[in-house]
Amino acid sequence: MKIGIIGAGKIGSTLAHLFTAAGDDVAIANSRGPDTLRDLEHHLGRHAHAVSTEEAARYGDVTIVAVPFGHYRDLPAQAFAGRTVIDATNYSPQRDGRDEKLEHGSVTSSELMQRHLAGAHVVKAFNAMRWDHLMDHGRSAGANQRYGIPVSGDDPNAKWRVFDLIEQIGYEPVDAGALGEGGRKHEPGTEVYTADLWADNLRARIGVEGT
Ligand SMILES: NC(=O)c1ccc[n+]([C@@H]2O[C@H](COP(=O)([O-])OP(=O)(O)OC[C@H]3O[C@@H](n4cnc5c(N)ncnc54)[C@H](OP(=O)(O)O)[C@@H]3O)[C@@H](O)[C@H]2O)c1
Repeated sequence: MKIGIIGAGKIGSTLAHLFTAAGDDVAIANSRGPDTLRDLEHHLGRHAHAVSTEEAARYGDVTIVAVPFGHYRDLPAQAFAGRTVIDATNYSPQRDGRDEKLEHGSVTSSELMQRHLAGAHVVKAFNAMRWDHLMDHGRSAGANQRYGIPVSGDDPNAKWRVFDLIEQIGYEPVDAGALGEGGRKHEPGTEVYTADLWADNLRARIGVEGT
């Protein structure tokens, strides 16, 4: 699959590594432009190339957003139209600035991203495991157990596409529900956030029957 990744820091470059290793083609961008990503491009190998943010957004059927949440409004919304967008971000008031709607819990951070990227289908995933654990915890399909990755989103087809990607890199997707209710179940501050749970255990903790 062709995957665009916006954000080439800890989580973006980890996902680029995992997806290129799985044989996917990745176009990755940061805020400073592709020339600043040549070392990473070289390190990732022939399945990766560095591009502008707009090119990464338009590159594939799926685009991963892995920038500090406070920068989501900088994303060029038109370029995401019709795509599945994986929101790997988390709201952190210390880093992103205080947002009253998020503080009061009237909306989730992924719902705000969905409003900004109105023509895309936003799915929240890969936000709840630390980058260095994500790099190492993947297991082959035949393994007894796999770690669970919570997923929330409003569009069923987009979610299924993300489930496939999660399985490709050695994890088991766990459907947490819609972006509103489900997204709340795997945000920072929840018991599953960075808890590195086996899929069955994650399912039990977030109260879902099975994916
Ligand atoms: N670190 C983790 O373990 C982890 C795990 C799960 C989720 N997350 C979430 O993932 C997000 C990124 O975290 P991180 O730790 O990977 O951050 P990071 O290491 O600081 O990397 C941030 C990346 O985003 C890029 N960026 C910033 N603003 C941008 C913009 N407007 N357009 C394009 N690229 C932009 C930066 O590019 P420049 O360097 O060029 O500015 C940098 O490549 C956060 O919301 C975080 O909460 C982190």
